[in-house]
Amino acid sequence: MGKMLSVSELRKVYEVKKTAFSLKKDRIKAVDGVSFELESGKTIGIVGESGSGKSTLARCILLLEEPDEGTITFSGNDLLHMGKHELKRLRKDMQIIFQDPYSSLNPRRKVFDTIAEPLLFHNIIKKKHVKEKVIEIFKKVGLDEDFLDKYPHEMSGGQRQRIAIGRALATNPSLLIADEPVSSLDVSIQAQIVNLFMDIKESTNISMLFVSHDLNIVRFISDEIMVMYSGKVLEMGEKDEVFYRPLHPYTEMLIDSIKGELFKKAKVDTFDFNDGCVYYPRCNSREPICSKEMPHLTGEKEHMVACFLST
Ligand SMILES: Nc1ncnc2c1ncn2[C@@H]1O[C@H](COP(=O)(O)OP(=O)(O)OP(=O)(O)O)[C@@H](O)[C@H]1O
Ligand SMILES: [Mg+2]
Repeated sequence: MGKMLSVSELRKVYEVKKTAFSLKKDRIKAVDGVSFELESGKTIGIVGESGSGKSTLARCILLLEEPDEGTITFSGNDLLHMGKHELKRLRKDMQIIFQDPYSSLNPRRKVFDTIAEPLLFHNIIKKKHVKEKVIEIFKKVGLDEDFLDKYPHEMSGGQRQRIAIGRALATNPSLLIADEPVSSLDVSIQAQIVNLFMDIKESTNISMLFVSHDLNIVRFISDEIMVMYSGKVLEMGEKDEVFYRPLHPYTEMLIDSIKGELFKKAKVDTFDFNDGCVYYPRCNSREPICSKEMPHLTGEKEHMVACFLST
């Protein structure tokens, strides 16, 4: 069980104008000193409400966005200091699946070509064998051959997400990042797609980061859970530890609200309001110390928390 991915002190700040005409800018700490390790074959579920920095973290790891600070080590390679050539080789080992399969698939391209393209681009297979390989991938993601000549608009949301998953798996990646992969789908379809991720997890040695605001889904698929809030990791550890023995008041709140849809729509205020804990303004258990500084993430690897009240 080697380390597949190791992220250390990652930071990404966005500067946005306060209003259209103002010169003042707000600094949004979208990812604010995030560190974690992902072991080979494991899945970490990243939960947190809208604006907590989950997608920014995912995009930084895949170098779709340039982090301001920190290091990312992927299969022993220092990702932020690599040549173009080496990067191209590594890119096929790390794939992402987005929330909305419709906008991530090329609408003018038959789904056969969508899956064939990475196979040919990365020289994974000779042209004459490409059809067999695509059919094999179709089977793997639960689609039959009838779909080969279809366009994305001729398919349902769930079928399109299967295509996006097939395309991501085509290069046989060792890391798959799924950013809210079922959130745009009908609830009835969500379980099918989550099951597909489970099959993939069980039949390959792939490592996954599975991003979702839905703790129920994350709980199902993850080995470990990481709870983000305002760019920071508030709690992280083995799934059952975090789920059954939550240490952070925010995690407790998330677990309590699983039945309601409460926290889905809440929007986090990521602005720098003070030096205290990022969760201070909303915390029901806060103490005076909590307004003074942000606690560090501490504890054993199985279970870590950033909260003065739990350590
Ligand atoms: N390109 C950008 N420019 C400016 N601010 C951004 C940009 N991308 C993200 N942000 C801000 O960074 C913060 C984190 O956003 P991010 O999209 O990573 O959150 P998220 O956890 O993925 O949320 P959601 O659940 O809504 O997808 C938010 O405050 C967001 O407004
Ligand atoms: Mg997001």
